[in-house]
Amino acid sequence: MKICCIGAGYVGGPTMAVIALKCPDIEVAVVDISVPRIAAWNSDQLPIYEPGLDDVVKQCRGKNLFFSTEVEKHVREADIVFVSVNTPTKTRGLGAGKAADLTYWESAARMIADVSKSDKIVVEKSTVPVKTAEAIEKILTHNSKGIKFQILSNPEFLAEGTAIQDLFNPDRVLIGGRETPEGNKAVQALKGVYAHWVPEERILTTNLWSAELSKLAANAFLAQRISSVNAMSALCEATGADVTQVSYAIGMDTRIGPKFLNASVGFGGSCFQKDILNLVYICECNGLPEVAEYWKQVIKINDYQKNRFVNRVVSSMFNTVSNKKIAILGFAFKKDTGDTRETPAIDVCKGLLGDKARLSIYDPQVTEDQVQRDLSMKKFDWDHPLHLQPMSPTTVKQVSCVWDAYEATKDAHGICILTEWDEFKELDFKRIYDNMQKPAFVFDGRNILNSDQLREIGFIVYSIGKPLDAWLKDMPAVA
Ligand code: NAI
Repeated sequence: MKICCIGAGYVGGPTMAVIALKCPDIEVAVVDISVPRIAAWNSDQLPIYEPGLDDVVKQCRGKNLFFSTEVEKHVREADIVFVSVNTPTKTRGLGAGKAADLTYWESAARMIADVSKSDKIVVEKSTVPVKTAEAIEKILTHNSKGIKFQILSNPEFLAEGTAIQDLFNPDRVLIGGRETPEGNKAVQALKGVYAHWVPEERILTTNLWSAELSKLAANAFLAQRISSVNAMSALCEATGADVTQVSYAIGMDTRIGPKFLNASVGFGGSCFQKDILNLVYICECNGLPEVAEYWKQVIKINDYQKNRFVNRVVSSMFNTVSNKKIAILGFAFKKDTGDTRETPAIDVCKGLLGDKARLSIYDPQVTEDQVQRDLSMKKFDWDHPLHLQPMSPTTVKQVSCVWDAYEATKDAHGICILTEWDEFKELDFKRIYDNMQKPAFVFDGRNILNSDQLREIGFIVYSIGKPLDAWLKDMPAVA
């Protein structure tokens, strides 16, 4: 059997590498229109950072795993074609700012129809609106010259930072297909691929639309938990309760469960906001404005939390950060990834820059070039293939990036922790304090530091959702 995956990104790359590793009898080709991305997959410096990924790729690359820009050739030869291309939020026209832009998906489907010479199973791996499979099916069948296509929805639930672990041991694999004999046959064929390593009872099969909606629903529920605990964090600060204690207490309830209850500066990543906006749009289109409003609130609270954080920083530092050096520790949207798409750090940095701060940024996995791109790119522009993104945006002069936390914090007035990297917990904060301007502030946007120890050193500390320092108490939290 031959598999081809269109789109060698955060999903296509790791997913296919794991399929190749677990299915030595299957030949897997991952193709992309981005030449530098494919070159990186074929080099020692993979285009994405994921713990354990290097190992998996090294074991299979050149044996049954290939990365190539010869898109048409590999699609033509494949029995199963996964499509894992970008599905950005539309920025123009009907549904702008909400609906999914299916340009890349549609062009992939047209190409599959054009080049195919044998029957194929086409698998939706990208997150798409409900009923996309039906639209894609129409494109394929109207252009097929008699070739038969079966379309399946197989949304991906991996989390960046733990992608390899999640792929090795998924909570579930979801396969949606047409409820016809041909549809069932295709579902069984894809099931057979996953059954190489996933226990049968964890492979769920549904109809196409349930599978599509389940992915949007899962992300909406996950993001909603974060917004719920973040909403509580604001109330904790106002009342003197401690959000960590509240989370722990409610998480012990088996109906609620302990995961995904950490208060923070906000969620980020390429999916949560995009997928909820998409869900909101689908609800509106289906005449369900109340349901749309309900989910929209998850994003509003996330934006509120990022604003609230910026306002805390500015108001604590005598209501201005103009020309003050602020060290930003962590820029990626979570630890163990270099991915900065929709990271809360972007909005926090922009907020501080709006008040004329000077920023010194350190993240172990994010380059200066990436930070500059993120701070100058327009909303949603990031979610397009690399060669279609704006070339060289103007650099933000008030921002510098360094490769060391001690350098970033030297002479700084304040520190913002924006990503929960483990290494930040091990820093020598006495040394950092001695080299900072006084009073020295720490704003812990991830609640990873021991605030009592920091206070003993002399810092003024703000931790999200925790009882406030006397210093911060009378400062307005939201302007
Ligand atoms: P990505 O941006 O990292 O990768 C997409 C790749 O597709 C890019 O390398 C691009 O050059 C390529 N591409 C676009 N059009 C193409 C075409 N016509 N032919 C060949 N290659 C083409 O995106 P990522 O993060 O891998 O996401 C892909 C899809 O998976 C999206 O729909 C996303 O919502 C979904 N998803 C993402 C998850 C994540 O954690 N990043 C998790 C689950 C789903």
